[in-house]
Amino acid sequence: MVENPPRADDPNSPTRLESLLDQRQRPGVFDRRVDIAHWAGGISQEQKARVPAIRIRRRWINSLWLVPIGAAGILVAVALAQQLRQYGWMQNFIDTYPGTSPTYAPPVTSGFPAWLRWQHLFNIVFMMFIIRAGLQILADHPRLYLNSGCQPGTAWLRMRDPIPGDRMDQDDAAHVWTAKDDSVALPTWLGIPGIRHSIGLARWWHFSFDLLWLFNGLVFYVLLFSSGQWRRIVPRSWEVFPNALSTAVQYASLNFPANQGFTNYNGLQIVAYFATVFVAAPLAFVTGLLQAPAVAARFGFGRGPFNRQVMRTVHFAILLWMVFFIAMHTVMVFITGFVGNLNHMVFGTNTQSYWVVPIYVLAMIIIVALWLLASPITLRYPGLVQGIGRWMVGWFKAILEWSRPNATYSEKDISPYLWPNGTLPDSDNYRRLQNANWSGYSLRIEGLVENPCTLSYDDLRALPKHETITQHYCIQGWSGVAKWGGVRMSDVLDIVRPLPSARWVVFYSFAFGAGPPEEGRYYDCHKIGHMREPTCLLAYEMNGVPFNETHGAPLRLRNERELGFKQVKWIEAIEFVESFAHLGLGQGGYNEDHEFYGYRMPI
Ligand code: HEM
Repeated sequence: MVENPPRADDPNSPTRLESLLDQRQRPGVFDRRVDIAHWAGGISQEQKARVPAIRIRRRWINSLWLVPIGAAGILVAVALAQQLRQYGWMQNFIDTYPGTSPTYAPPVTSGFPAWLRWQHLFNIVFMMFIIRAGLQILADHPRLYLNSGCQPGTAWLRMRDPIPGDRMDQDDAAHVWTAKDDSVALPTWLGIPGIRHSIGLARWWHFSFDLLWLFNGLVFYVLLFSSGQWRRIVPRSWEVFPNALSTAVQYASLNFPANQGFTNYNGLQIVAYFATVFVAAPLAFVTGLLQAPAVAARFGFGRGPFNRQVMRTVHFAILLWMVFFIAMHTVMVFITGFVGNLNHMVFGTNTQSYWVVPIYVLAMIIIVALWLLASPITLRYPGLVQGIGRWMVGWFKAILEWSRPNATYSEKDISPYLWPNGTLPDSDNYRRLQNANWSGYSLRIEGLVENPCTLSYDDLRALPKHETITQHYCIQGWSGVAKWGGVRMSDVLDIVRPLPSARWVVFYSFAFGAGPPEEGRYYDCHKIGHMREPTCLLAYEMNGVPFNETHGAPLRLRNERELGFKQVKWIEAIEFVESFAHLGLGQGGYNEDHEFYGYRMPI
């Protein structure tokens, strides 16, 4: 072990580690840009998302088939319902269960109060951003699975071609298919912001509007139950089900039941509203939380029915339900008495005023304008989106970081394939060390520590070795369980003895980030408190063998509270600092600086 850091005149070891990072003048928050030509390493924007295909056994079926199948289904349903209504027993059934009946849903006579009408409007705006940003997140790993390891070939839904079979050799680091290669672009009117690998920005939209939506929902619940409005949408008798069936038959036969929506919803409405408000919405929150690495690492959900991929699937099913509900709801508003329905929801009165139409049109124009502005504004002012997002949801992420990441798994849970990612190191120095099997490697550890030092590869291997089997959670959506072997960061801390002023630990990679060379090295900052966790490792092995280049040789970090991009690979140096504000562009890491990620990533 060398006790002092290398000298300043050693060309391979600049004295100040921070000089490895982006040294350009920092742009102000309004001056930061998404430059499509160089975005995410100049990733081609040609790779567009395909219409989702669904796997049934070994065949992939294009989901567009649902359009003709759905149209045929509607025709058959209409014909069937009209035929059924000819029969006496069906007429009796509809007489007994007319759809709307005070026997099971007493009328609510207080109209639609202003809070309910405003919350309805806010919900439209929040939902549209949540859904669009959610689709953008999905486009970053455009495949859904049920197994926690995202094994290639096992997806049940995909939005692009299969992974090229000749690019699966993980020992061929330069050629292997990465998760970033797999991402797809969406039209900018659909995804936010639409371009490939813009998940950092999409997540700020998704989470910020999730928060607004949850707040809106909580206020809605409180007012609903304190005002008696809950009686509209909470079924209080099993009779709601035959009434829902009766309504469905009446709608399908195109002979609609009378619209009594101002005071009483019909059975079908009650069931649909209840399912949306009290089942789908809370489930969206729960399945969102269960996609968080910090939550899974606390409760051990890396395997079993709550694993991230099952939760992504359920979360996506909720999106489908929400889109279906919104579409049907809008169609019904139009075809069951448009002006009257608008009067209910805009004025809160059971009237037929035509003044409601220009108000509705104006509201729709504003909504369409917001819709169309979201992506261009995000691409023009990404720093602003990052700043507002961090301000809105940063505190929630800080709370999630409190949970202890203690969950470990067993050998049988190890995923057969762990998706690779990241921009490889390509310096002569790295190659030389790699070719010498790391015999000349030395890890610099310095900054606010009592005992700055360098540790050789052999020094590291001579320290107590620990193995943990944990789940890796990539920001892009894939996951996988692996066994990591290496040195506990707590042992490293005991060697270097951080000063009380040290609050952050910076990991510097041999690799540059994805962008142009002037953007400097890949790096990321971690809270010093996380480094004492028993599962926090400076790992040199994966699944019992030394890391190959693809997965981070010679060293990579494991901090199980956080998403994958923070587990820096190809580590060259570690520095203890009080704050990261002076490093790079000051956001806490390379991807935070250049792809607008957050520095706290427990979700
Ligand atoms: C408060 C409620 C919600 C929370 C906490 C939440 C949270 C999350 C989280 C953590 C992710 C994964 C992000 C990532 O891996 O980078 C995600 C993705 C997504 N969300 Fe939500 N979400 C919520 C509501 C919704 C709603 C209401 C919808 C749709 C109607 C939705 C649609 C999606 C979609 C489609 C994805 C992409 C799934 C993937 O590829 O991983 N989310 N959400």
